[in-house]
Amino acid sequence: MEIPSHLIEQLRGSKRVAVLTGAGISAESGVPTFRDAQTGLWAKYSPQELATPKAFKDNPRLVWEWYEWRRELVTRANPNPAHISLVIIEEKVENFTLITQNVDGLHKMAGSQKILELHGNIMRYKCADENIPIREFSAGSEVPPRCPNCGGYVRPDVVWFGENLDESVLKAAWEAAGSCDLFFSIGTSALVQPAASMPYLAIENRAMVVEINLTETPFSTSATYSLKGSAASILPEIVKAAWPESIKF
Ligand code: OAD
Repeated sequence: MEIPSHLIEQLRGSKRVAVLTGAGISAESGVPTFRDAQTGLWAKYSPQELATPKAFKDNPRLVWEWYEWRRELVTRANPNPAHISLVIIEEKVENFTLITQNVDGLHKMAGSQKILELHGNIMRYKCADENIPIREFSAGSEVPPRCPNCGGYVRPDVVWFGENLDESVLKAAWEAAGSCDLFFSIGTSALVQPAASMPYLAIENRAMVVEINLTETPFSTSATYSLKGSAASILPEIVKAAWPESIKF
């Protein structure tokens, strides 16, 4: 793909870069996306049925087992060249913030430092009743297991539909999106709020906004550049063009 030279100049000269990632960046690590037909997790399961507090209340076992299945997939996954490219960009740029909707922890595993996990992390657990982190629990015969403190259910420490995002994480994400001079929206369908509004805030504040996605999204026509293709191939090309000496893959 031809990477626009203006984008490369902007990246090299940029003081503040913010990046928003979604499930598409982890697709090539073997973690299925949410909304893509056939391969998406939610082609088989409806998110409304599984990722809500009501679902957990109605059928805690189903929701627990679904998350256990996803957790296993994530445990076997490794970061791909797209995750690694973002690590290199963070090393090069003065002020870098990575905002992710992903709960898979692959950015951290790749080596990214400043990560804002908007939707939590699937490898962490919390008490469904007390909303406090749980580090250890006995995986006895009961599914889901019980909180050792209060006997409530253990649940994944992720944000479900209808739940609030962590306020300080969200505030930091808005600040990064509103103050950057270059914003990337990578592998996200740009449908789920509040993340979907962040690239628009960047545009309002005159940032260059670059979308990388296999397909058109509702945001594509608003982007400065909408690059169509896989994140794992386009991001390394961008890094190579900006800093040819720093290729690690
Ligand atoms: P989606 O599954 O909605 O969208 C994935 C996007 O990635 C789509 O636009 C694909 O076209 C694109 N894509 C797929 N493979 C790609 C690749 N190799 N390179 C580039 N793009 C690729 O995932 P999200 O936008 O992350 O929230 O979904 C946002 C939130 O909706 C999730 O965090 C989750 C879900 O409901 C909660 O669970 C609260």
